[in-house]
Amino acid sequence: MTEKELQTLLEDMTLQEKIDQMFQVVGMFYIKDNTGIESGPAQELGVTPEDFDMAGSILGITGAQRLMDVQKRYMKKQPHHIPMLFMADIIHGFRTIFPMPLAQGAMFEPELSEKCASVAAKEAAVSGLHVTFAPMCDLVRDARWGRVMESTGEDPYLNSRYAAAMVRGFQGDDMKAPGKVCSCVKHFAGYGAAEAGRDYNTVELSEHTLREYYLKAYQEGISAGAGMVMTSFNTLNGIPASVNRRLMRDILRGEMGFDGVLISDYGALRESVVHGCSADDREAAEKGIRAGVDIDMMTGVYSANLKSLVEEGKVDEKLIDESVMRILTLKNRLGLFENPYKDADPEQEKEVILCGEHRQLAREAAQKSFVLLENDGILPLDLKKKTAFIGPYVESRELISSWAVTGKTEDCVTIREAVEELPDMENVVFCADATDLDKAREAAREADTVVLAIGESYRQSGEAASRGMLDVPAEQMELLRAVSAVNGNVVVVLFNGRPLDLREVKERAKAVLEVWFPGTEGGHAILDVLTGKVSPSGKLPMSFPYCVGQVPVYYNHFSTGRPQQKGADAGYVSRYLDIPNEPLYPFGYGLTYTAFDISPVALDKKEMKTGEKLTARVSVKNTGKTAGTETVQMYIQDVSASVARPVRELRGYQKVVLEPGEEKEAAFEIDEAMLAFLRDDGTVGSESGRFRVWIGSSSETENEAEFTGIFED
Ligand code: NOJ
Repeated sequence: MTEKELQTLLEDMTLQEKIDQMFQVVGMFYIKDNTGIESGPAQELGVTPEDFDMAGSILGITGAQRLMDVQKRYMKKQPHHIPMLFMADIIHGFRTIFPMPLAQGAMFEPELSEKCASVAAKEAAVSGLHVTFAPMCDLVRDARWGRVMESTGEDPYLNSRYAAAMVRGFQGDDMKAPGKVCSCVKHFAGYGAAEAGRDYNTVELSEHTLREYYLKAYQEGISAGAGMVMTSFNTLNGIPASVNRRLMRDILRGEMGFDGVLISDYGALRESVVHGCSADDREAAEKGIRAGVDIDMMTGVYSANLKSLVEEGKVDEKLIDESVMRILTLKNRLGLFENPYKDADPEQEKEVILCGEHRQLAREAAQKSFVLLENDGILPLDLKKKTAFIGPYVESRELISSWAVTGKTEDCVTIREAVEELPDMENVVFCADATDLDKAREAAREADTVVLAIGESYRQSGEAASRGMLDVPAEQMELLRAVSAVNGNVVVVLFNGRPLDLREVKERAKAVLEVWFPGTEGGHAILDVLTGKVSPSGKLPMSFPYCVGQVPVYYNHFSTGRPQQKGADAGYVSRYLDIPNEPLYPFGYGLTYTAFDISPVALDKKEMKTGEKLTARVSVKNTGKTAGTETVQMYIQDVSASVARPVRELRGYQKVVLEPGEEKEAAFEIDEAMLAFLRDDGTVGSESGRFRVWIGSSSETENEAEFTGIFED
């Protein structure tokens, strides 16, 4: 439709019809016996069965035939035959499940995430979906928060790249195109900063921190063209985000240029009453529409109140028209007026979903997401030696996260299955029962090497899954203690949705391979890496704390006035009496099976003036015996500025693939925009002075050079 046609359509709609477009309900109410909707839930939401029946979008159900049926029924009843929108959480895969987003962060390869998102979109689209509630662009610094698994980590630069890549993967250039779905950037804004890591908790962020660090990735997702944004559950400056007019109207739309559909998170409009910011549902509806929230996800406050608010002159119908126009425009961008079923196709569903090519991509992504935290030479495994695979994850199919809502554990390849596919496995034994310590001890005693597959359950991370302790579950630590007491050659394969306190694991194991929740092809990918078919190359996208008391701990913090100096005597410095300041494993850290030499940083000049560029170079050499990939990272610090800058910030990285003995140059171009920051007067710019540049293999590299910036004010 042309814009003019959309406008004509809007003008022809009744107020009630318009408000219906702004209501979203869960789809399962629509599919009971495939006959129609249930009226019970409508009562619970305080809306009429008709409102429920005419909601302009539904969430959470999939299946080509089913969604085609729902669409057909809906369009028949809808006075203008406006099609319905189908949305769902396709976070890290539809049915082919890729590594969880934090694990994808560890790949340091947004281009690969773009491919994963594109496959997820393809599978979702043939299954009838139009919109995915992804990517989550929340910056995370607190491992207690269960949703860190849904983020790509603690770094605004890396997160921004992933946000844009994922939006491109889901949506492409044209969301109408076959195999594409609309992408929804979430949760706007600051949700990742929930106090004390407790989900839904209050967020306290200064304007500076919000803008300079937290808003960056959302902005990149929006600039990449995301058609939707979702509000967050938290308050910001005491105002729930979902009714926060300044945040949504001034910042999101005004400053960040978002002109798509804004949807509330699930139930969030009504929660503004519980927050103590709206007196009742009616006020919640009024505040929501004033903030510019276009779709109310699953509360009914719009449906029950907007009409009378307009009729009584409390809300200008213009606001409703604006919202509905945005919704109609999205439906139009998806091509639904011409083809309301879009890509839904029961035949294609059978062919495309979980096909070999998709599984292969899932395997590659998983391989690249693993982070080798420790290795004293025991890896890669020599499977000619007697090897015991012990632990609950040896035979577990629960390799997908709690956010893989359309994935199926039965599709996952277990570690055991992957081992059994290898030839000559007569030296391998399995013991998957974590509770039978005697059996585990016996298996360990008789083996040369133990591969111990342990970790969190997938239920321990995700929404409403915050933890106060960051330990590996007690039963599995018992297993590790039992096994390591009788066999010194323990390789821990660690599953988890968040950084954990790994002090004891590190002490007891000769190697630790972090595999997160690796997805459908987890077992294969783990064996590929354990056996050395593929060398591990992942780098941590989030610091692993020494212990929970350090949290939040992140590499790009500020200097205090009294920083602790390495090796210096303690005194009145910023430190703990009982634990170090540094995390156990820092951001950007990860080993491989080979070794790399990174030369000192060479700068092509010592001064950089306005409009100029500077190049920082290193040479990377593979000094080991096997091929490998090093992710060379560049960090910059503005040593002194009108607003203190972090001690270092990631400003570039390159994945360098090297054969043994091979050497390659990694060159990073630095321009003025990379040095710019938000100043106290609200302007963004760079300031003259000293800059430090580090290039190395993690955020702790000391490979440093310095230059001077000479910039016009
Ligand atoms: C609540 C979650 O916060 C959000 O991320 C998700 O998209 C919605 N529920 C819909 O499932």
